[in-house]
Amino acid sequence: MAEAGSFADRVKQQADIVRVVGEYVRLKKSGLNFTGLCPFHSEKTPSFSVSQTKQFYYCFGCGAGGDVFKFVMEMDKLPFPEAVRAVAEKCGIAIPRAKERTPEERKENQQRTSIVEMHREAAAFFVLQLNTTPEGRAAKGYLLDRGLDAEAMARFGIGFAPSGGEALLRTIRQKYPENALETSGLFSRDQSGRFYDRFRRRVMFPIANDSGKIVAFGGRALGDDLPKYLNSPETPIYTKSNILYHLDRAKEALRQRDFAVLVEGYMDAISVARAGITNVVASCGTSLTEPQVKLLNRFTHRIIVNYDPDTAGQTATERSLTILLEQGAEVRVLALPGGKDPDSFIRSEGAAAYTKLLNEAPPYVDYLISRARKMDMSTGEGKLRAVNFLMPYVQRIPDRILRSEWATRIAQQLRIEEPVLRESIRKAASERRGEVKARPELVGRVGKPAERRLVLMLIEGEEFRSRLAQDIRAEELHRGLESERVLEVLVEACASGTRPDAATLAMALEERDRRLLFEIAFESGAPPTWEEAESCLTVLRRRRAEEELSVVQKEIESLAAAAGAGAGSELRRLLERKQELRRKLDPPAPQSPV
Ligand code: UTP
Ligand code: MN
Repeated sequence: MAEAGSFADRVKQQADIVRVVGEYVRLKKSGLNFTGLCPFHSEKTPSFSVSQTKQFYYCFGCGAGGDVFKFVMEMDKLPFPEAVRAVAEKCGIAIPRAKERTPEERKENQQRTSIVEMHREAAAFFVLQLNTTPEGRAAKGYLLDRGLDAEAMARFGIGFAPSGGEALLRTIRQKYPENALETSGLFSRDQSGRFYDRFRRRVMFPIANDSGKIVAFGGRALGDDLPKYLNSPETPIYTKSNILYHLDRAKEALRQRDFAVLVEGYMDAISVARAGITNVVASCGTSLTEPQVKLLNRFTHRIIVNYDPDTAGQTATERSLTILLEQGAEVRVLALPGGKDPDSFIRSEGAAAYTKLLNEAPPYVDYLISRARKMDMSTGEGKLRAVNFLMPYVQRIPDRILRSEWATRIAQQLRIEEPVLRESIRKAASERRGEVKARPELVGRVGKPAERRLVLMLIEGEEFRSRLAQDIRAEELHRGLESERVLEVLVEACASGTRPDAATLAMALEERDRRLLFEIAFESGAPPTWEEAESCLTVLRRRRAEEELSVVQKEIESLAAAAGAGAGSELRRLLERKQELRRKLDPPAPQSPV
């Protein structure tokens, strides 16, 4: 895919896969490599590995693997050229003006760029309104009443959209084409088709994407106007289900503290961040989506859900749990006392009280059990309802041991006989297992040590790989081996003098061979030497001679049994070959190298 000399190739040479993958997966250094929880299947212990020296990733669990482009293609669901551009951007590599782009693509891109620029200007405009107009000052009073000081307003870029209905339009319309105004989501049209400001007389919260560009707004009514919050519609730069409010500012803290506080509202996120817990993000009213969780999982897998304690919040909590658990997150739930949302709690009880409760937040199953216990437990039916309420969550725990622990807890807490409960969990789990894709076979033991070692030496043996490849090719030593195809593609690459790239070669292989190549490439050991390579070749030569010998022996026997006339010359030839093979095998076998 990345042709030599192409832009893709240049990006690949310069990019560091560890850095790119590290944006999505928490990686730990482990020996020469890096490991983490696989983003392509849910797991509790890391089987996902990244090789810095060889610039590829591989999951020993699910078999996902490839180079930096493949990774970004899979994670962000991008086609190859887009993935190349994304990697270049992440690594600060200048992107040449793309000539190959279609005119439509170019137009869409220009439009996106204008809309982003428009949002930047709009945000500045709203801030200016808040600070300099009489109406804005009234709005400021409202915010001050809500406990936000000027510094906080500035920090979170809060502004004000005036009531006139054309204020933003007037400052912006000259600079942008009509279609950009139309699709920006900042304006609406009246019946006669005239534009007017979508947001009027509202406190404006800018919403940024994870790289910090403002892509939408949430507008809070000043009084009891409805809707309480008016948000930007979906636009070419804003997809609700992909955005978490405050993520752009939370990134650093999320990584460092390795947990996230998930709240519902803008004001909640702001209050929690101001309380010193900057690793907070808000889902903003909508129930949490899978893309949002995936986004968050790039930074941490540990999440404390702190939604409003009202009924809507409880329902949202339970729905969010489902998605979080499926994505393998480690979830705790904080339900604040007194019916308060995080913002009002912090304002009345203070940051310290909030932090304390946050630290004590129970694992989600305890939260769920306490919810279940509020159901009527005096009858069998009631208990059944409680179990039915809990079961879907228990089923979603990917880890079997954890699932079993929760079963014990639930049985104790709900006073249900444990075997009965376990039976229903088992049933439910086996139904679920049917849906889960079967894992590809493990290839850990495919291929004998000498051939596996040869594969590795072709990859790593900088000084002698081409000589080694030529030897293997000349004698066709790879034929008939379990790793035949893997050796074949490697020999092909090495004999031509290029440095073999595991991820690229893997693309030409079938599933089993692809996994074999990746797994061997992760094997480590002493640096390979030519002596070792020779002894591996000797092992292969001997194996081949032994095989031939047994074939020759059989032929001799059957020929002797037939004992027909004229078989003499053939028999003589076979006997000679037998002697030859014997001599070859005569010197004792060299010490097996691995
Ligand atoms: P809440 O109703 O809990 O609002 O909705 P809040 O954040 O506590 O707001 P304040 O404190 O009264 O100002 C939580 C979130 O749901 C979304 C918003 O993102 C809000 O922050 N929401 C709520 C809407 O999008 N539209 C609405 O009409 C209401
Ligand atoms: Mn609220």
